[in-house]
Order: sequence, then structure tokens, then C-alpha cells
Amino acid sequence: MCGIIGYIGPEQATGVILDGLRRLEYRGYDSAGIAVQDNGRLEYRKKAGKLANLDAELAERPLPESHAGIGHTRWATHGVPNDANAHPQLSNDGRVAVVHNGIIENFATLRAELGAEGVEFTSDTDTEVAAALLGRAVNRGNDLTVAMREVSKQLHGAFTLVAIDSQEPDVIVAARRNSPLVVGVGQGENFVASDVAAFIDHTREAIELGQDQVVTITANDITVTDFDGGPAETRAYHVDWDTTAAEKDGYDWFMRKEIFEQPKAISDTLLGRYSPQGELTLDEIHISPETLRRVNKIIILGCGTAHYAGMVAKYAIEHWVRIPCEVELASEFRYRDPIVDSQTLCVAISQSGETADTLQAIRHAREQGAKVIAICNTNGSTIPRESDAVIYTYAGPEIGVASTKGFTTQLIACYLLGLYLAQVRGMKFGDEIRTIMDELEAMPAKMQSVLDHADQIYTLAKGMEDEEDFIFIGRHVGYPIALEGALKLKEIAYLHAEGFAAGELKHGPIAIINPGMPVFAVVPPQGRDQLHDKVVSNIQEVRARGARTIAVAEQDDNEVDQFAEVVISLPKVSTLLQPVLAVVPLQLFACEIATLLGNDVDQPRNLAKSVTVE
Ligand code: F6R
Repeated sequence: MCGIIGYIGPEQATGVILDGLRRLEYRGYDSAGIAVQDNGRLEYRKKAGKLANLDAELAERPLPESHAGIGHTRWATHGVPNDANAHPQLSNDGRVAVVHNGIIENFATLRAELGAEGVEFTSDTDTEVAAALLGRAVNRGNDLTVAMREVSKQLHGAFTLVAIDSQEPDVIVAARRNSPLVVGVGQGENFVASDVAAFIDHTREAIELGQDQVVTITANDITVTDFDGGPAETRAYHVDWDTTAAEKDGYDWFMRKEIFEQPKAISDTLLGRYSPQGELTLDEIHISPETLRRVNKIIILGCGTAHYAGMVAKYAIEHWVRIPCEVELASEFRYRDPIVDSQTLCVAISQSGETADTLQAIRHAREQGAKVIAICNTNGSTIPRESDAVIYTYAGPEIGVASTKGFTTQLIACYLLGLYLAQVRGMKFGDEIRTIMDELEAMPAKMQSVLDHADQIYTLAKGMEDEEDFIFIGRHVGYPIALEGALKLKEIAYLHAEGFAAGELKHGPIAIINPGMPVFAVVPPQGRDQLHDKVVSNIQEVRARGARTIAVAEQDDNEVDQFAEVVISLPKVSTLLQPVLAVVPLQLFACEIATLLGNDVDQPRNLAKSVTVE
């Protein structure tokens, strides 16, 4: 949510910043802007709309040559996306320019105070308040670093700020609280950015900043302090994915590429987790086995797709570990006075590791004494840093706004966690764990075979792009997959799509079925439990009301094809693991429908990746 970058070094700043913004655009695409140093002045360009509009503006009115500057791509919070509200925002005298990610909660009070002092505001943004405060502080004789510390202490809420001062051309200063900020460490050049994608073409060496820290970069130096100027602890790390991970690589959309990357992503996430001695080893879990044995309740927290991964995890964990497991939307959790104590284990699922709702939820849980395990895809992000332990997923960067490989790798991490807890608590032993691990390890190949039949889904989509309503149904672990299928279609195709627990249909939703309405049913494996037959009955119920039925079912299911107009076949897997495969056709379907509708699949309207505001 908002991408920011600062660059200082020998290259032309505008080009480096623009390239960085291109890689960050998935974080927000309402408007974009750049400001650079220009011999004792600042020059800037900014434009509403996608980065292409800023490109056009720069072609018409190029920025001067410069070796230091800042850039921003915005997801609007305060103020509509227009040129005036685009970042950078400048102090009244044009001395300081700022880009910002987050929300400054006390901006109205500060704006009123500054207004009384004669500051004139030209935008509706909270960011302009930070620019005015920084301008005031440097004009009082502080250097930009001191000014940034001072101003950061006055701000409430979430912010990453990156600023330049025309009177200090050799430094860029940034600060963070509750919003992401990483430093890219180059040779004779340095970067600050919302995430490493911004500078991956230049350096793979990064420094993760902690909470409430200020960093000052020059071309050759990096100094980090806390808001009082005291020493600050940071963590240096190496980014191990390469630049092609952030390229479309011949695909029309990042989302499609990421769907096809899933076999590798899940295989990478499984790698090294199971020892030759038949033991699960989750090295990143620094919570002692004794503590895990004392846990009497698990609460899984997440938002959107991550929440659906949590819903699947509940079925697996309760079945394998026999501990009561709740799944809760992170945005609801702390506002309902949840019952949490030192015997509660919270599992926070977040691809980005920056989702504000999830972050606030884990803070609340830890304040009540709970231990928190994060399941996260982003090294250096806030949620794992603020958790007691982390299981990283190895999906690589997920750039399409709609989560795909993020989701399936979260499922894998949840299964690993469930098995690990079962092992630690003596609920599952060597052979049982090995059987499930064998099945998980066979999953990449099975998923590949689903992807190999993508054309069937594309053909199906071609006949459906004019439909306006879609229903998805499922039971047990198929229910969250139905919800996820509907969410994918909503977010990128902008179509009305709803997911229901199949058994709930007759309690109300079946009334909305119209003749011809597409109903996708996620069908559990045949013959192993009653679930299968129940879902097949539900398919018959909607079919009897004229629905067009599409079943996602196990291959050789000899019952479902009597009642479903179209059957999308999945390789055989056990019920609990089926979501990893069943979601794939639904992802492909949404991607194809959105493409046929001419939508921007990677940057759907109103959305942004990494939701860093509550
Ligand atoms: C949907 C989607 C969102 C995210 C949600 C949580 O495709 O991407 O629903 O899943 O915003 O994001 P993370 O996992 O980054 O916390």
C-alpha cells in the first residue's frame, strides 16, 4: 500500500527511481511522483493515475540530472487521487519534499496548528502535514535527520516517511513506524524503499529497519538511530531471489505467472523441513516444545485470502492435534475482547508481513501473554519480526495483487505447523507423519498436472465472460476454497461472486439461484467419507433450479459427472490436502475471465497489495 523509494549515488536518480517505482507499482497505482535535488533546489513531477502518466509527464517535462531523489506510487487514503494529492508533498517554501506510506492519525490537529501559524496547504493529504513539520524543523536550524526524529515523535499512526532537503543535497532521511522500510546497501550508492523489489536490480544486500527508527543514507554511509538519536538494532540480510522473479517472463500477467509458479513455490516451502530421520524440523520455531505442549487453544489470524488459508488450517490442526482452534478475521479480533492467555497460541498468516489489521491483532495477542507464530512470505517484514516464531513460505515475490502462490504456500506452511504440533504433542508419530509428508511432497507434481490442463478452464471462461453472478460452494476444507474462488473473481473481474458452505444453501442462499447461473462446486474425494455424497446432493439441488453446474472433483469420480455440466478433474489426494489443488482451477478461471473482460488483472481497481492501514 503505497510504494516508496529513495536513491542516492552516481546514477541518474530519475531513471533509477522510475525503475524502482515500476517494481513497486503493485503496492498502489492511483498516482505517482518523483522529486530530485537540483543544485540547491528541489524539482518534482507528479501525476494522478498509473505510472504511465508520470512517464508521459517526464517525457514532456524532464527532470534535471541529479544523483539523489525520492519517488512514490500511491494508494489513496486521505484525498482523492489527483495531481495535487500525489506525492511528493513539499513544505511551503519548497525546501523539503516528502513521500509517505501509511496514515498519520493526528493529522487534523497538526494541520490546524500549522494552519494557525500561516502554513498554506495545497492538498488534502496527511503527508503534507509531515512536509510542513519537517520544513519548519529544518528552518529552525536542525539538520534533516534531527528534524525527522523530532517530527516522527509528533506523529501518531502508521508511517514510513522519506525526505530530502534542498539544503542538504547529499543525504536522504527516512523514518518508520508500523509501515515497512528497508535499506538497500549498494557500492557507492544506497537506497531506501518499501520493499526490496525497488532496488533488486542494483543490490541484493538489505537492512531491515526496526520499529520507530530513523535512517540517514548518503552514497557511502548508512546511519540508523531510534527516534531519540540513540543506537538502534537492525538486521542485515541477503535477498536470494533474482530479478527475473520480479519480471513477467513472457506471461501476460504477473498473476498468471504466479499461478504457474505454484508447484515450485510449494516445493520450495517444503524444502528442508523433514529430516531423513523422519522428523519435522521447523528451525524458525523458537518456542520450546514444553510451551507448545502447554497450549490449550489456537487462534489463527489473517485477512482476506490469508484468512481462508487459516480456515483450511483449522480443519487440519484440529484433526491432527486435537486442540480447539479458532479462525478469526484479524480486523475483528482485538475489538471483541477475545479470551487469550499464556496458553493460547496465535498463528498470524500474512503473505506481505505488513498487513496492519494482522499486525495490530498479534500485538494485542502478545499483550495478553499469547505466543505468536507468523506464517509469512516476506523476509524482513514487520509481522514476523514482532512474532515469537515464524514459518517462512518460499513463494518468492508475489506481485499480482490477487494472492495465488501466497495462498497455496500458506496452506503448505499450515500443514507443516499442524504436523509439527502433532509431533511435539505426541499425537502423531514417525510413520503417520511420513505418510502425510509423502503426500505433501507429491503435491508439486500433482499441481503441475492441474496446470497442464489450464486450457480446459480457459475454454470454460470463454463462454462465461458475460455472466454477472457466480456462486461457489464447498463443504469442510472445500468451503474456504469456495470463498477463495469467489474472492478471486470479485477482486479482478469485478463480478458478483459469492462463496457458501454447500450445506447452508438450503437455509437461504438457494433462493438466489436463477436458471443458467454458474455454480462451482468443490467436491471432496469420493468414497472416503460422507462429505462427497453430500456435496453431490447439493449440486443436484442447484441443478434442479436451473443452475449451470461446474464441479472441481477428483479424477475418476463416477458420480459427479452425472450431475455437473462440466467436471474439472484433480489428481487424487486426501481430503485435508485437496485445497492445494482445488484452488488452482478457480485461480485460472478468475484470471481468464478478468482478461477477457479487459481488466488490469495485476492492478485491479481500488485495491493494493500489502494493506498497511487498518
Ligand atoms: C486477495 C488478497 C488479500 C490478502 C489480504 C491479506 O487476493 O490478496 O485478501 O490476502 O489483504 O494480505 P497479507 O497476506 O499480505 O496479510
